[in-house]
Amino acid sequence: MPVQSGPLIRNLEQKTSRLFRAITENVRWRNRVSKGVGVRLEIAKTYAERIAKRYLSNGAPALREQKGVRDQYESRWAGLDIRINHGHKKTLEFQGAVFEIAADLFLNWFYVVALAEVIETTKAKRLLEVGSGNGFNLVCLALLFPEISFTGIELTNAGVERANRLRADSVFRRTAIGRLSGFIDRRVSDSTEPINVEFVRGDAGAMSFPSYSFDLVFTVLALEQMNRIKDRVLAEIARVTRGQSVHIEPFLDFNREWFKRLHLGNKDYFRSEISYLRQFSLEPAFSWAGFPDKLHFSSGIVMAEKMNVPAVRV
Ligand SMILES: C[S@@+](CC[C@H](N)C(=O)[O-])C[C@H]1O[C@@H](n2cnc3c(N)ncnc32)[C@H](O)[C@@H]1O
Repeated sequence: MPVQSGPLIRNLEQKTSRLFRAITENVRWRNRVSKGVGVRLEIAKTYAERIAKRYLSNGAPALREQKGVRDQYESRWAGLDIRINHGHKKTLEFQGAVFEIAADLFLNWFYVVALAEVIETTKAKRLLEVGSGNGFNLVCLALLFPEISFTGIELTNAGVERANRLRADSVFRRTAIGRLSGFIDRRVSDSTEPINVEFVRGDAGAMSFPSYSFDLVFTVLALEQMNRIKDRVLAEIARVTRGQSVHIEPFLDFNREWFKRLHLGNKDYFRSEISYLRQFSLEPAFSWAGFPDKLHFSSGIVMAEKMNVPAVRV
């Protein structure tokens, strides 16, 4: 059934604004501007600093080869404890103003609320996250939807280990339930109940799942890391879903400004238009880009419907 994108987008807008107010009460606003110029100056300054740092100290950017991605995330997920504030400040933009926040994975709360909204709309029952990292998104979603079966596939051992620990972490679970339960009108799991999520180590470009084994497959800033293997990965996603694919990624449609495109190119991040999905029989059904975001580039959510699914499951 085609998605009713109007109500979905209205809900995303309302919930994102409400979540933003709830979790930024104590955030230091660096620059409040009604429109444009101040934010643009801020972006230019941060971007100039980045260019200086990259070209004056590190030389030209490396291509994002899978080996480098794996090494980077093996050490990131081995080191990062999401319950500790690492004090690494990020400068973000939301609705025309710039703010600083020191919480790691701050943006993921917004992504989880958006994914929950999509799940409610599609009624999917078997879900896969490709590039599931430390399991943050899936543990939160499994707490919100106890009746749904969730799987994560992740390249790194450290990510899978961290995700299994997060699944059993009652302090994190209590925090997640406290933060998210107001955004979903249903019973959620308590902090000790077993939840229906498993994490497997594997390569998104060659997944061992049978064709059509999931109702919905999603990625969150994972295609971002896979520009060099995106064709294989999108073909695999299209193969294993029988319903939708959902992507929170920096599609070029959300990055029209030259400095954002330059940044995506420098980083060798995912760079495709939303329409690129059509090459994989994934027909875009809606997109929305109202999340708080980094200054250097923007990510939005895209949902696509899998075309030509046989009536009988193979
Ligand atoms: C930016 S992180 C995002 C993690 C998670 N989706 C989140 O929202 O926090 C990208 C993740 O994709 C994983 N990844 C990169 N290439 C992969 C591949 N070929 N197969 C599976 N996972 C991969 C990385 O190891 C990393 O954990």
